[in-house]
Amino acid sequence: MINVALPKGRLGQKVYDMFEKAGYPCPSIKEDNRKLIFENEEVGVRYFWVKPSDVTIYVERGAADIGVAGKDILLEYEPEVYELLDLELGKCRMAVAAKSTFRDNTERTLKVATKFPNIARTYYERESRDIDIIKLNGSIEIAPILGLSDVIVDIVETGKTLKENNLEVVKTIVPISARLIANKAGFKFKTAEIEQIRDSLASQLKEKEEK
Ligand code: PRP
Repeated sequence: MINVALPKGRLGQKVYDMFEKAGYPCPSIKEDNRKLIFENEEVGVRYFWVKPSDVTIYVERGAADIGVAGKDILLEYEPEVYELLDLELGKCRMAVAAKSTFRDNTERTLKVATKFPNIARTYYERESRDIDIIKLNGSIEIAPILGLSDVIVDIVETGKTLKENNLEVVKTIVPISARLIANKAGFKFKTAEIEQIRDSLASQLKEKEEK
């Protein structure tokens, strides 16, 4: 049995559709109910819905053999897992954003509000820029408007949230998308099964490319 941690929500539905196409269906998952675990013994797969930011925890600790997590979470928490495939879903970017009037004064410590302190720290270290990190849990865009921070480091997808709050991208740090990840020990014991899943998902991506 392969245990698969799927991110709850719209992205997770798309990911499940790819697994179904790859030959690992579990129709009960599509029924409108609040169950969190779904199993198809015949094809040897068990899915569970978890909070997207928790997928890496289940996989790292082996409660799931594989899972799907955003590259943002992988960069932020650096879990000890294998990254097997870019699923090319949930595409967005990690970026620095600020008010259009923002001008960086390098003589001052830069105040950075973010949900991703590790990504922000790594980025500004590379730039040799002194920063003060203000860790927030959501609605990051408010911080520069209220003067809590000079800039934010956050996810930009359509750019709508920035625009509607009069902020703009200063710099893109890294492109983000959903990745197939695996528990290291699990991969050793179930290599053939996991590689088969990875390869059928990869061939769907190739087909899409060729269309
Ligand atoms: C994310 C991100 C931005 C928004 C970007 O927020 O933090 O606020 O989406 O999307 P856009 O470019 O398409 O507007 P999320 O919905 O995860 O909420 P939160 O960070 O406020 O919790």
